[in-house]
Amino acid sequence: MSVTLPMYLDHAATTPCDPRVVEAMLPYFTETFGNPGSRNHSYGWAAEKAVDTARKQVASIIGADPKEVIFTSGATESNNLAIKGAANMYAKKPAGNTGRGHIITAIHEHKAVLDPVKRLEKEGFDVTWLEPGADGLITRAMIENAIREDTILVTIMWANNEIGTINEIPEIGELCHEKNIVFHTDATQWVGKMPTDVKTDNIDLLSMSGHKIYGPKGVGALYVRRRRPRIRLSAIIEGGGQERGFRSGTLNVTGIVGLGKACELCAEERDSEQERLLALRQHLETRIENELEVVQVNGHRDRRLAHLTNISFGFVEGESLMMATKEIAMSSGSACTSASLEPSYVLKALGVGDDLAHSSLRISMGRWTTKEQVDYAADKIIGAVLKLRELSPLWDMHNEGIDITKIEWQAH
Ligand SMILES: Cc1ncc(COP(=O)(O)O)c(C=O)c1O
Repeated sequence: MSVTLPMYLDHAATTPCDPRVVEAMLPYFTETFGNPGSRNHSYGWAAEKAVDTARKQVASIIGADPKEVIFTSGATESNNLAIKGAANMYAKKPAGNTGRGHIITAIHEHKAVLDPVKRLEKEGFDVTWLEPGADGLITRAMIENAIREDTILVTIMWANNEIGTINEIPEIGELCHEKNIVFHTDATQWVGKMPTDVKTDNIDLLSMSGHKIYGPKGVGALYVRRRRPRIRLSAIIEGGGQERGFRSGTLNVTGIVGLGKACELCAEERDSEQERLLALRQHLETRIENELEVVQVNGHRDRRLAHLTNISFGFVEGESLMMATKEIAMSSGSACTSASLEPSYVLKALGVGDDLAHSSLRISMGRWTTKEQVDYAADKIIGAVLKLRELSPLWDMHNEGIDITKIEWQAH
């Protein structure tokens, strides 16, 4: 079996740019380099035409009207614009007051949602932070229980970036529309992989990003509904009034062309790609679960993205596992903070204990991942876990039937 190392199995973090995307972008660096805002010459018109084409390509994979697509620098900016922009526009009281309105979100959203919402909380908005169950899902019923008279915004991600779980987005959107509440979804991990129709899925604001779908980094989009209801936002980046005043700044034409092309390719290849990735993930999970004891796949078993799995391995030390598999690029269940390794807040939200969270791997496959690569990764991971357990006194105790959670450890 021949595979090239290091091997990349971290497509939920970022994807390589598809060579067809790069090819589409190249002329816009050197030949068609005009500013789409230059309305009085052919360089400007050519750039504007390219942006229009990309806007249609992006709109098309989410079922939107091209006029509803605002280009941004990525999903972080899209989330900030959607959340702060909607909260400030629909606030019940002016800035500086408390009781400005109620916002609903969940504790295991991406930081690019959590941090803007935390800021709004400091600025006088009330926030309900929903907690998922062990399956990681946020459901319509949870939102229904949390809605209040003064709720102005619900923001719930479509698919979770660490565990791949898929929330009840069309159902939550329907509820928000019944109650006249603005509904935003961070669809960064969803769009391009699963069919999306902002109209029938009842979405008002949707964030997406180029680099998760084989497009370039530093470009993304925000869908802003124009009809039934027309969503208004206060801008956070002000200046030349580009993107209908929602987002000023000279457009990143090359990036936008790349995002458009990436969307077009996803639309063409999505169904067969998802089927192939699901088969690969099932193969990987089956091997790991058949060949190892005390492993746990985190999050809902079925309502999950096809290309991603998050697995905890009992009785191994997380850092040693990462070291033993370091030629395979994967994410661990620990996040580096300046001073220490913190267990993933997403896994903690599901009730996964600190030890298991630390010894978790997020493995995410992509457009060019092969069965040989998956088998190589499975061999490496299984081999590493078996070896680490051989060295572990806790594993011996577990095998002797001792419940180590009941042991009282003594410090000397
Ligand atoms: C769910 C989710 N939201 C937002 C982001 C941020 O996206 P970007 O890198 O485009 O700012 C990411 C990427 O890590 C993500 O996975």
